[in-house]
Amino acid sequence: MEKPRKKFADIIEKAMAAANTMDRDELLFSYKGILYPVTFCSPEVFKAMESLEARSDDMILAGYPKSGTNWLGQILSDLLVIFEKKTQNKESSVNEEELEEFPYLEIGDTGKYERMNKLPSRRLIFTHLLPENLPRSIFKNKAKILLLLRNPKDVATSFYHFTNRMSPLPSYETWDDFFVAFMTKKMPWGSYFEYLSKWNKYANDENVMTITYEELKENPVLGVKNIAAFFGISLTEKELQSVVERSSFQSMKKNSQKTHGAFGDVLFRKGGVSDWKNLFSEDQNEKMDKAFEEHVGGTKLGVKLKYEVYCKA
Ligand code: A3P
Repeated sequence: MEKPRKKFADIIEKAMAAANTMDRDELLFSYKGILYPVTFCSPEVFKAMESLEARSDDMILAGYPKSGTNWLGQILSDLLVIFEKKTQNKESSVNEEELEEFPYLEIGDTGKYERMNKLPSRRLIFTHLLPENLPRSIFKNKAKILLLLRNPKDVATSFYHFTNRMSPLPSYETWDDFFVAFMTKKMPWGSYFEYLSKWNKYANDENVMTITYEELKENPVLGVKNIAAFFGISLTEKELQSVVERSSFQSMKKNSQKTHGAFGDVLFRKGGVSDWKNLFSEDQNEKMDKAFEEHVGGTKLGVKLKYEVYCKA
């Protein structure tokens, strides 16, 4: 997995260098009503994305920024690499440099999707996009989607620390300023509540599996097993255990200089549950609980998050 990760570090470092020369108000652009960082995304690439021909064996990871997408990304690529190696007796396509594409769907150039259409199966695709902004072929061709959720309070906390250390994203002088922006839909990739509410419409789809950051943290062996089963990947207990070990926070953080370059330090911050308690005031806590109820209370995703997160936090 060295080469794709090198690509990862290169893309981030390039974006950071470009953003360092820009003013804060130039960092984001709006497309179909959602903000995105100009150093990673563009309207041209969004339009070109529609030409992606999804396949039923694509492995798609959907998650709002800061919900643990790099963690789950590591799990999915490890599962695939081990599985392909043993079933096809070949190095996985995700290892072949000339075939590799940066796995984040919406980050790349306009030629990316035509190249992706020529890649062998199985392809790994990660995305922060709302379902309505994904290429239609993903739903039409019944690609499997792993939908990752996280306590919105921890998402906001993680996002705050991240945005202040990541030059392609606008920084905030205070947590209070960031909180207002988070609650008023001014985040790159849009509002998390809107994200949950839009994805909720797909929560009962047989091609969609939801998992929370918190449940995976609590029982990674069971989580990894369920993910593998969902994607039809059958591995031994020992192989599953090695995926769990390689994807632990400690192990990913230790390896991060090699896998993510200087960005690793920013990305692998605390990797825990309930860090929001160090930032939220009582008033902010109440406001977020209210927004949660308004947007997703009583929905399938809302109930799942509430049961696995709010009741335990
Ligand atoms: P914190 O900022 O709370 O530490 P994303 O990958 O979507 O940007 O999410 C980043 C969050 O996932 C960060 O949360 C990061 O520490 C956490 N994370 C990354 N790898 C992890 C792992 N292996 N186990 C648990 N959390 C992890």
